[in-house]
Amino acid sequence: MINALRGMKDLLFEDAQKYRYITETAAKIASNYGFDYMETPILEETPLFKRSVGESSDIVGKEMYRFSDKGGNDVCMRPEGTAGVVRAFIQAKLDRQQGQKYRFFYFGPMFRYERPQKGRLREFHQFSVESFGEEAIEEDFTLIRMLADIFDTLHIDYTISVNSLGCSACMPKYRESLVQHLHTLSDGLCEDCNRRIASNPIRVLDCKNEKCKEILEDAPRITDSLCEKCSEDFKRLVTLLEKSALKYRIDTDLVRGLDYYSGTAFEFVSENIGAQSAIAGGGRYDRLVEFLDGRPTAGVGFAIGIERIMELVTIPRKGREGIYMGAMIPEAVEELLRLAHEKRRGTRVTVEYKTKSLKAHLKGADRVGARYAVVIGEEEAQEGAVLIRDLEERRDIKIPAEEFATRESFFDD
Ligand code: HAM
Repeated sequence: MINALRGMKDLLFEDAQKYRYITETAAKIASNYGFDYMETPILEETPLFKRSVGESSDIVGKEMYRFSDKGGNDVCMRPEGTAGVVRAFIQAKLDRQQGQKYRFFYFGPMFRYERPQKGRLREFHQFSVESFGEEAIEEDFTLIRMLADIFDTLHIDYTISVNSLGCSACMPKYRESLVQHLHTLSDGLCEDCNRRIASNPIRVLDCKNEKCKEILEDAPRITDSLCEKCSEDFKRLVTLLEKSALKYRIDTDLVRGLDYYSGTAFEFVSENIGAQSAIAGGGRYDRLVEFLDGRPTAGVGFAIGIERIMELVTIPRKGREGIYMGAMIPEAVEELLRLAHEKRRGTRVTVEYKTKSLKAHLKGADRVGARYAVVIGEEEAQEGAVLIRDLEERRDIKIPAEEFATRESFFDD
């Protein structure tokens, strides 16, 4: 027997319904916020991720599904969506429409070769938004507000962490002072941290090792070294969050695992799903369009990890839906197919092709959750009629087949 690859899951029945419910709910809200649907390919050239997510990140350094295709191209299954969307944005020359704002949402599979565990898959799904051309910090606030709206609508509890990662004016100076400080601590820090002092010192602050955390308590924090613009933006964001009544905390250790961020960074965390508790993350990436050879364009976005919230979501109960059709005599099957085709223009219809007793058909209708069972027996066939059983109200009616084909409701109330 062939099984799915480790860390990859099939979506069946309730999980599949939940996936649709989550993406449809989020899409509706994103659309209400002025965002348009878009998609990009799952496969991209490897340098796209190296140059955006960053070579020193774990995602690019350790976790990419990377291979040569038959044409010898170095390609990757996308580990995240922002890089591809930015590539598409530049390829469509939208970066040349200076002053224009573009807002997109998308969802689909992402691939990271991580060690699978609860909440951590090798193929997982994200729902994401990306906003281009809006520099105002109000947009960062609006994205956080949108995420909160999505989780509120899905009845998911969360806490919000925010930080500022500074910009090209303040980050390099801060990085220098951080590296100096880290060198004085290097004996006590773990192997990963020591490696990162040279490659990606900011990520040292993100180390989950308890001993490192303790040692790093007095390390300088970027929020104390922000330039005037970044500092003002961050203060304004905090003011907007205060006034919105959203519950948030400033987390100066929040650095995110992707290199393209500058300015605002945020994460939503759930306390109800175990160790992999980040249910969404995002931030600003004002330099990314330029890094990928486009004209400088502001950008900010987020992604929700759909599998991580799946177990927290309950789909509102739907009642019985649609029609089940079955014949009691073989000669009626063709008529059933004709009528089913008519009804399928507006209703969900399941047809049983085997002739069965009325009782067996009613059982079948129950199994597929149909509201109505519609059957043709000897008598109905002779009269050109159908027998309709309303499985919710437990009542029957016999009506001419043509009337059944054209009427939306079959009982007179
Ligand atoms: P990210 O923080 O790498 O950001 O991923 C976003 C979310 O995807 C995480 O918060 C988590 O819920 C989920 N996730 C990540 N890895 C896994 C995994 N292995 N298994 C299951 N779920 C996972 C990004 O990807 C950015 N592109 C977000 C963004 C958009 N920033 C700006 N625009």
